[in-house]
Amino acid sequence: MKHSIVLLPGDGIGPEIVEQARLVLVAIADRFGHEFTFSSHQIGGIAIDETGDPLPQATVDACRSASAILLGAVGGPKWDDPSAKTRPEAGLLRIRKELGLFANLRPIKLFDQLADASPLRADIVRGTDILFFRELTGGIYFGESGSSGEGEDETAYQSMTYSRREVKRIVRMAATAARGRSNRLTSVDKANVLEPSRLWRRVAAEVMAEEFPDVNYDVVLVDSMAMHLINRPADFDVVVTGNMFGDILTDEASMLPGSLGMLPSASLGESGPGLYEPIHGSAPDIAGKGIANPLATILAAAMMLRHSLSLNDEADLIEAAVAGVLADGLRTSDLARGDSDSAIGTEAMGAAVVAKIAK
Ligand code: NAD
Ligand code: IPM
Ligand code: MN
Repeated sequence: MKHSIVLLPGDGIGPEIVEQARLVLVAIADRFGHEFTFSSHQIGGIAIDETGDPLPQATVDACRSASAILLGAVGGPKWDDPSAKTRPEAGLLRIRKELGLFANLRPIKLFDQLADASPLRADIVRGTDILFFRELTGGIYFGESGSSGEGEDETAYQSMTYSRREVKRIVRMAATAARGRSNRLTSVDKANVLEPSRLWRRVAAEVMAEEFPDVNYDVVLVDSMAMHLINRPADFDVVVTGNMFGDILTDEASMLPGSLGMLPSASLGESGPGLYEPIHGSAPDIAGKGIANPLATILAAAMMLRHSLSLNDEADLIEAAVAGVLADGLRTSDLARGDSDSAIGTEAMGAAVVAKIAK
């Protein structure tokens, strides 16, 4: 089968990790007789440098006609000036919005081989397998914003809005996924304080009662959830939440499996190409050193095969290959707690995964 894949390497470690994921996809194509065509396009800081726009129209056009999109990361200190006209991150927010990618799936799954890499005790993290559904195109990220005044009166605001439609579609998607797993869904909000959270809670309860009475459903406040995630992570199955809460909770949850460098994500809409990326950022502190962990992006490529290209065996093989290299004891420095001397680099980790697939 022919599939056209758009690569958006972006900034910092983005190009380093996307290249390893591309090589893994090439190995999959060779092994299974698929034809993947790759084209690279600009997004983020590099796009600002070249065109003045963090999301050039050519990139949007390429993404729209692709089978799927694989993104590295955007941003970095070079573009951090708070008074700049635009920022790399604006490109990422826009591509999510333009493609209608309202559902961000973030699986937090512990590889048994990494139980010791977590900063939490192995007996707490063992059995962790959570699938977050983060709402991605609404909420405070896309609320009306502005600033006014001067001196001590200088003021800035950003409003948080959710509509019934937005809540329904993400809750439906999460509840449907729960049915295919352990049949448990937790909705996370801040309904004791925030008006949009109160709407979220009401609409979510309606959807669950009317359409998913068979799914075990509960609600947890976001501050409490931050604590439960560390205390009893293995108790959760599917979690659905808004844009900002999902952003924060999944970075927190990334420490359960041991590193931000292990966690992939899929951003999906009702139709059209999905966008796949690691949940981490451009890691400016290690960019260019060849030490970034490429596994989150490689696992994002596996999600892409499964969700956008319906290549389930191929996705399973990538995940098995990642488990295999971890079982062999291979660790990038982010995973090699206290033993960074034995850590391998980005290319060596990518090559080890490719070697398992090519067998
Ligand atoms: P970050 O996720 O880039 O890095 C946080 C820490 O985790 C750093 O110490 C980094 O070295 C480490 N880390 C991240 N990914 C790693 C990997 N694959 N292997 C090993 N270590 C890894 O977060 P930050 O430093 O807060 O943000 C840096 C920039 O990235 C900012 O400009 C931010 O806006 C941007 N960002 C982009 C995305 C995205 O493109 N989706 C996501 C988050 C942050
Ligand atoms: C992420 C990032 C982005 C977000 C930023 C870079 C816009 O943190 O993908 O998690 O907040 O969504
Ligand atoms: Mn984030």
